[in-house]
Amino acid sequence: MSIQRPKGTQDFLPGTVEVWQFIEKTARDVCRRFHYQEIRTPIFEHTELFSRGVGETTDIVEKEMYTFLDKGNRSISLRPEGTAGVVRAYVENKLYGEPDVCKLYYTGPMFRYEQPQAGRFRQFHQFGVEAFGATDPSIDAEVIALGLTIYEELGLKGVRVEINSVGNAESRGAYREALLGFLEPKRHLLCRDCQSRMDRNPLRVLDCKVDQAHFVGVPELIDYLDEECLTHFEAVKSHLTAMGISFSINPRLVRGLDYYTLTAFEYKAEGIGAIDTIGGGGRYNGLVGQIGGQDQPGIGFGIGLERTALVLGAQGVDIPRENELAVYLIGMGDAAEAKTTAILYQLRRAGIACEKDYQNRKMKARMKSADRVQARFVAILGDEELAADEITVKRMETGDQERVPLAGLADWIKSH
Ligand code: HAM
Repeated sequence: MSIQRPKGTQDFLPGTVEVWQFIEKTARDVCRRFHYQEIRTPIFEHTELFSRGVGETTDIVEKEMYTFLDKGNRSISLRPEGTAGVVRAYVENKLYGEPDVCKLYYTGPMFRYEQPQAGRFRQFHQFGVEAFGATDPSIDAEVIALGLTIYEELGLKGVRVEINSVGNAESRGAYREALLGFLEPKRHLLCRDCQSRMDRNPLRVLDCKVDQAHFVGVPELIDYLDEECLTHFEAVKSHLTAMGISFSINPRLVRGLDYYTLTAFEYKAEGIGAIDTIGGGGRYNGLVGQIGGQDQPGIGFGIGLERTALVLGAQGVDIPRENELAVYLIGMGDAAEAKTTAILYQLRRAGIACEKDYQNRKMKARMKSADRVQARFVAILGDEELAADEITVKRMETGDQERVPLAGLADWIKSH
């Protein structure tokens, strides 16, 4: 039996890969304007980075990591998300020594052993940003705006921004008590996952997909925020308002990773079945210190590229394709054919996308092929042209043709 790809993974074939190129190119360009620079970190890291960073009791670390012992008996995990690795690199390379705020972006595959469904994969891809060294709420608003700008420039309609403040360790501690006080009498009504989350990570209970009906009247984190957290939250909101960005406050937005403090946010869009979160992020003051660095505040987001691509498809957004072929070159007869390799090489180095036949096919098959690949011109080199150092160029759309000096072919193509 032939070998198939592992469950929850995808092949991106020509034809759809252009969507990915478009997303990445757009996101990179938005980052350039917001002055974020690219960082590339390893796809695998020491497992401890994620258990310490993402959180021992999160679903991601408890159930979803691809963890293995390497041949040196070290516990290694494929990265389930991008932030922990970027924080590690920031610490390891002492980027906190830089005088300015450090603004980074990354893109690449992430791995989570989840049950695959529409918009949920085991290998998926994120585009993310992380900004270190600023507690100023203006950067929270900037990061939220950056993500939204990416969606907008991709042509997505109706992306909603939800925000919340998850406070600091103290306010979360007080809230945890209040939440448990509310949940305890309902424990027997809740699903098994929630019952175990109550013991390990009670805030995550609020995220449950099936128990929402039992949460009517649940205490809200926002009522437990101290002055500093509230002031920060208010400032983030007023920056967003000043930028003209609409958002809604979702008091139950807690996120699935443990490192968040203060601002938490998600981007939502319809079009992928039950799943509507296409990106999310927040502030993580304390994480850099936890990973072992001099403590520095941080904030960022991760955009799910599969989900973004799915919504682009659902909304029928037109994707610009950059694989247009200018010339299909045909040599007629052995002498002419022999020359095509050099001509193609010359054209390609002059910046022109071109193609030829490699299967010794007949003229008719070659013309069909030129049609299939949608070449703008067919350039035909026969004995007669060869003798005159010329080539016949035919515009496929109109059928118009003319003879062009071989030496001037590249310039002619560029100017037509
Ligand atoms: P996250 O919410 O776990 O956050 O993931 C961010 C996005 O990745 C999600 O909104 C979703 O679009 C996509 N995603 C997550 N899991 C899957 C999956 N199994 N299949 C397809 N797409 C998926 C983080 O990862 C944080 N590191 C974001 C962040 C950066 N926070 C601060 N900085």
